[in-house]
Amino acid sequence: MQTKSTFIPKIIGHRGAAGHAPENTLASMHKAADLGVEWVEFDTKITKDGAVIVFHDDKLERITGVKGDVAKTALKEIQTFDAGAWFGEEFTGERVATLEQAIQVLADHGLGANIEIKPSPRLARKTGRAVVDVLIRAWPETLPKPLVSSFNVQTLETVRDEAPDLARALLVFKIPRNWQALLNNLGCVALHVQAKHLTAKKVGVVKDAGYALRAYTVNESAEAEKLFGWGVDAVISDYPDRIMVL
Ligand code: G3P
Ligand code: MG
Repeated sequence: MQTKSTFIPKIIGHRGAAGHAPENTLASMHKAADLGVEWVEFDTKITKDGAVIVFHDDKLERITGVKGDVAKTALKEIQTFDAGAWFGEEFTGERVATLEQAIQVLADHGLGANIEIKPSPRLARKTGRAVVDVLIRAWPETLPKPLVSSFNVQTLETVRDEAPDLARALLVFKIPRNWQALLNNLGCVALHVQAKHLTAKKVGVVKDAGYALRAYTVNESAEAEKLFGWGVDAVISDYPDRIMVL
């Protein structure tokens, strides 16, 4: 197993605080900090010109209203699109953030981050390299070391090879049969699983093997309480404020 990562709190804001502000925007990071969250999760991918942006979908349309693929659109053009109006009028004018802009906001608030790498099709390795490059160049000493996660095994292999010391988590929906071999091979310290696919027994098996286990996306405190009771280390939530009252 890999060296131990930094302490990670029990509640992590999902895409910033996506229940309260447009997901993955700087407004969403600010909101998470305002709520008292200590760590946020957000998604990253690359533009046509290889810039790393904070964005979930391969397609631009759901968030910006513009048809097209992130991977086929240059950063400059993406930055002209509105990324907040879809969520609420008061967020009109919010832009798609670069990873570097997000890091600056994290630094301003002292927020830790689980940086999910979500490569567009056929860009698994290139996206992994691009994110690592930014993190090596721009991650501030003042923040806890980030945790990188991905559903994409090739991406995690790339991160492992390029930056072995960067803590990694494998993201899955259900826990696959070969989960332990995967974590071992990728040098991951944690497994991040969709909450509805967890049982007390499954949590126990992963925890007994010495890995951290986190669950997404958990938006009700009763569910969080159940998961914590099973030994889940943290939950990733659109409404971290609902869970923090526990
Ligand atoms: O990292 C946990 C969660 O964000 C994974 O799913 O689709 O919300 O990025 P998704
Ligand atoms: Mg995500």
